[in-house]
Amino acid sequence: MAENSVTWKSRWIFVLAATGSAVGLGNIWKFPYITGEYGGGAFVLVYLACILAIGIPVMVAEVLLGRSGRSDPIHSVLKAAKRSGHAQAWSIIGAAGVISGLMIMMFYSVVAGWVIDYFFQSVTGSYAGLEADTISGGFGELYGDHDRQFLWHCLFCLLTAGIVASGVQKGIGNAVEVLMPLLFVMMLIMLGYSIAEGDFKAALHFMFTPDFSKLTGDAVLEAMGHSFFTLSLGMGAIMAYGAYMPGNASIGKTVLTVALFDTLLALIAGLVIFPLVFANNMEPAQSVGLIFKTLPITFSQMPYGMLFASIFFALVAIAALSSSISLLEPGVAWLERNGLERGAATWLLTGVAWAGGILCLNISEIFNFLDNLTTKYSLPIGGLLIAVFVGWVLPATQVSENFEVRRGPLYTSWLWCVRIVAPAGIVLVIINQLGWI
Ligand code: TRP
Repeated sequence: MAENSVTWKSRWIFVLAATGSAVGLGNIWKFPYITGEYGGGAFVLVYLACILAIGIPVMVAEVLLGRSGRSDPIHSVLKAAKRSGHAQAWSIIGAAGVISGLMIMMFYSVVAGWVIDYFFQSVTGSYAGLEADTISGGFGELYGDHDRQFLWHCLFCLLTAGIVASGVQKGIGNAVEVLMPLLFVMMLIMLGYSIAEGDFKAALHFMFTPDFSKLTGDAVLEAMGHSFFTLSLGMGAIMAYGAYMPGNASIGKTVLTVALFDTLLALIAGLVIFPLVFANNMEPAQSVGLIFKTLPITFSQMPYGMLFASIFFALVAIAALSSSISLLEPGVAWLERNGLERGAATWLLTGVAWAGGILCLNISEIFNFLDNLTTKYSLPIGGLLIAVFVGWVLPATQVSENFEVRRGPLYTSWLWCVRIVAPAGIVLVIINQLGWI
């Protein structure tokens, strides 16, 4: 197949698609629960520092590789390596990414399934007017009910595959244009409610007063890993999307916009959830069930709560969908380039992720294993390779030709970050956790 000539309609559509990929369960489900688990403020601070010093620079590197290669991640990296006379082995970045994407999809679709379940519970008003304890206990029932989870898991896989199979342009581009702003507005409404009804002061204190004695090596690793997870980095998703980015758009500005939206949404999600946690005398460390135990309590007490709840869970499911498509896209684009029909490629990869998802929903150890393996190791290591490849392996001119500003403080700080800060940070955090230092 020829070089990819499709581009998004405009820079803005790239921003929305990348934001659609970035903003998902990572922001609304995962960020609050890991913040709860790792003790709040200090964890949030490390996470923000990682976004700034590692996530954003690596994202710039990914977009740059994608846009200059204009192909699937494996071929984009291959092309850049060949052009500068380097070993083709670097395309391992893309290949490992395809596998990471599938592993993430396996547990992601299970969680998305829970969201769909809560959507239907809200539509039917099944928890309206119940006691807070009963509502939060409802998650345990779902968690123990494998058939119910299986049903939603299948549905979510089908929806993802349906969009990916029908092509990126129509499906993704148009959907995110409407839905992302809507999600943002919904979160703001919820925030207003939490400020009014929840214990907002306690939440602010929990999230923004760092207590470094709570910061373990594992917490730092999780915070760093999550900065990759939440920005969809380290496995080629953003690279694949970057391949469709218009040539004249500024990479730096675009990436900053996406990262800003993503971070804002995560912080707002935390500020919606923790006031409710504290107002209801719950513990912040509620593991994977946190949002499902807290949010429905608020909805059940709000005027028109079930209506808001239905809209809210529908939007979260859609945010999950606009993320999950980007988990499959790199692999599908690669298979397509190798001659497989897009539909067949999509169903094949979805089938693998679906089967893995069944294991995840039956065996929680597998769920945790895949979550830890990808977030803490494969994404950061993927990011490390990308940073080293762009920062050290490619010739400076091949890198700088992608920017309109080739000098100046922003460019220089980016270069420092991809060359030194990101690689050193990733390596240090990982070997510290492995107990080697
Ligand atoms: N960023 C998404 C979220 O926060 C998840 C996701 C989508 C992802 N594509 C990815 C994570 C690629 C890592 C790599 O929900």
